[in-house]
Amino acid sequence: MTDSVKEQYEAYPYPARDPAEERKRLITGSPSFLPELNHYVFGGRRDFRQPFRALVAGGGTGDGLIHLAQYLQASGGHHEVVYLDLSAASRKVAEARAEVRGLKNIRFFTGSLLDLAALAPGPYDYIDCCGVLHHLPDPDAGLAVLKQALSPDGGMGLMVYGSYGRAGVYPLQAALRQLTADLPAGGKLALAKTLLADLPETNEFRRNPFLGDHKLGDAEFYDLLLHAQDRAYTVPELVDFATGADLGIAAFIEPCRYDPLSYLKDEALRERAARLPRLEQAALAERLSGTLKTHVIYVVPSTRVDQAVAQPAPDLVPWLNGIPPQSLAETLQKRGELAVNFQNERLVFSAPPRAPEIAALIDGRRTLGDMAAALGLGWEDFLGLYRPVHRLLTGINKLYLRQA
Ligand SMILES: C[S@@+](CC[C@H](N)C(=O)[O-])C[C@H]1O[C@@H](n2cnc3c(N)ncnc32)[C@H](O)[C@@H]1O
Repeated sequence: MTDSVKEQYEAYPYPARDPAEERKRLITGSPSFLPELNHYVFGGRRDFRQPFRALVAGGGTGDGLIHLAQYLQASGGHHEVVYLDLSAASRKVAEARAEVRGLKNIRFFTGSLLDLAALAPGPYDYIDCCGVLHHLPDPDAGLAVLKQALSPDGGMGLMVYGSYGRAGVYPLQAALRQLTADLPAGGKLALAKTLLADLPETNEFRRNPFLGDHKLGDAEFYDLLLHAQDRAYTVPELVDFATGADLGIAAFIEPCRYDPLSYLKDEALRERAARLPRLEQAALAERLSGTLKTHVIYVVPSTRVDQAVAQPAPDLVPWLNGIPPQSLAETLQKRGELAVNFQNERLVFSAPPRAPEIAALIDGRRTLGDMAAALGLGWEDFLGLYRPVHRLLTGINKLYLRQA
């Protein structure tokens, strides 16, 4: 099966990227956005001026690789980012993107992550494996190999497909295998497009409004509907997947999408949901929402799952990603709520008490201790006000803590 996966990604490197675009923009995202991984894996306390070694396993055309290497290079320490992928065509694109950006901290390898120990042995402080493990014939074996190479103090950012959000994909993949198994890649693609235009209105894929990747281009179409091998996970399956490799899930991204309270209004239901253990809450949220077509998670060795995520402390600095504090404060003040769009899903959260005042102080330089002082509050009183704001802003994945 690995051969057909390799063939697919040689023919259709994923995602399709033009290295020249690196002159105009930097693509960032989850997992592996450096401030995000620091918050969810290293308690916000990793100093990236110190040596740091990362692996991007199944790096594809380089999205995760490039932003991780770029942010590490900008932080000025001695870093190594190892890129590994089965597909030489994908590596070529990733190498060209790194060259345009002048990134000097990457080593490239072509091969399977199952051969990691021979190709580029650990230990790694951090491993990115985004959209890869679900394409292995035995994802558990793949995760075990990565865990072997992970430093005991490190963590991983993973993305795998979500079962409910991909409703309709697997019956259509099976139908396409029935109709096109004998054809080469180009022939499969042409006939698949014909079938898509010809699907009955009742077809589950046609009725799923959250699936649109196939409209982006041939590589994306092939990846979604003609993949040689993929599977999807529900939250409980994901928990078993991590546990099987002696890893624990430190965080789901975006956290508010894995919080059942984001989807429930009735007080009795909210109370019942809030009483469930953390991972069961995530499972409930996934079942209620139905929109999650991928799961991005941060995992760490099970023994340190409770210490991985940054917690508010007087010496830590909250930092807002892409929202000016003043405009956030104004929105919270004017509307008394915050509305956020995730794909086709709009979630609305009420503003906690004094949220505008607190938001206005989050300038990426002040520590939480400074903010308490600016409001004339002792630490415990400040924490009582700050926690709900923290929950709201980390929930929508716009706030991270880091050391001053
Ligand atoms: C969907 S792409 C994701 C690429 C990239 N991680 C991203 O998120 O943009 C999956 C990648 O995994 C690679 N891959 C699949 N199986 C692999 C394996 N056993 N070892 C290394 N790479 C693998 C494929 O060649 C492909 O480039």
